[in-house]
Amino acid sequence: MSTEFPAGKLTGHRIAGRPIVVWRTKGGKMVALEDRCTHKRFPLSQGRLMEDGRLECAYHGLCYNDEGKCIAIPSQQDMPIPPQARVPQVPINEQDGIVWVWPGDPAKSGESSPPRTPEVADEAWETIDSGPLPVRANYLLLIENLLDITHFYPLHDSNIGDTENLLNIAEGGLQNLQALLTDMNEKVLQAANDTQGTNERSAIFQQLQQLGEEVDSVARQTQFNSVVLLTVNTMTFQSGPDGADFTVFRISSSFTSAALSVNNLTVASQTLASTSLGSVTAALTSVSTVLQQLGASLQRMRIKADNLSIGKLNVIAAQSRIVDADLAAEQLESSKLQILQQTATAMLAAANNGPASILALFQ
Ligand code: FES
Repeated sequence: MSTEFPAGKLTGHRIAGRPIVVWRTKGGKMVALEDRCTHKRFPLSQGRLMEDGRLECAYHGLCYNDEGKCIAIPSQQDMPIPPQARVPQVPINEQDGIVWVWPGDPAKSGESSPPRTPEVADEAWETIDSGPLPVRANYLLLIENLLDITHFYPLHDSNIGDTENLLNIAEGGLQNLQALLTDMNEKVLQAANDTQGTNERSAIFQQLQQLGEEVDSVARQTQFNSVVLLTVNTMTFQSGPDGADFTVFRISSSFTSAALSVNNLTVASQTLASTSLGSVTAALTSVSTVLQQLGASLQRMRIKADNLSIGKLNVIAAQSRIVDADLAAEQLESSKLQILQQTATAMLAAANNGPASILALFQ
């Protein structure tokens, strides 16, 4: 990514088995040279960039410009620099927030250009830079896997399934909270009436305490894969065939009795019970709001799952058409070759019979 290359920082890489030193000049230009000094093959990435932009080898101090040409040999200052004292340039191209190098034959680098990735540089998109992810695998297999779009639907369908399960669990937890808060609401309503005596108020208070503990228990136990769901959380779910297609669900508050302000409900008098009623109503409103958001997310997930199923059928159909078409073409080619071969055999047989026919005429 472009962000990995601040101006003036040398970086050494091995790309397709080739050592390459890469840096960005003060003017912002990207430079890539073979990471081997022309003198004794010392890695240039271990050298340093001078104030005037030249790259100095750390071994004997030979200096190169950003085209790989040696422009100074400190130990031979009075002698001309041999023209062959240069290191090969590696074609490099920075485009849409990504730096591309061409480690192959430079003469062929212009034959194709990297794909455009406007999403990476466009501020309207959110780009998550995870940094390099080293994978111990054959690079051809990895590239094949990334290009193999048809595997997404069978293998990664489960992403959406998991998301639905997670949201269902969160929804279940919130519904339990809603039921508990509704119970609390009824108890507090009872207490907000002057018909209640001291003993009744005390009993209601005990029940509210227990309901509050139950709220905490639900908030604690609503988990998916050990992740507590009913707390401040931002969850990102991949819901499409590429990294750009994801759904984010945010919970901006916690659901413990303390966070909902229902842990210290007092009902010792009608007035205090009325105040407590306001807290329970507010808690019910917060739970209902998140429940509605969650319901909308679940609905989106179901639509995405349906779309993916349709996409899956389309991709399988397209793949089948391509593969079947190839098979048909190959079969046609094979039949053609068989006909040609049999025709040639027949002609050869006829030619072999030719002299015998002529001889027969003379008999
Ligand atoms: S190896 Fe680089 S200057 Fe000698």
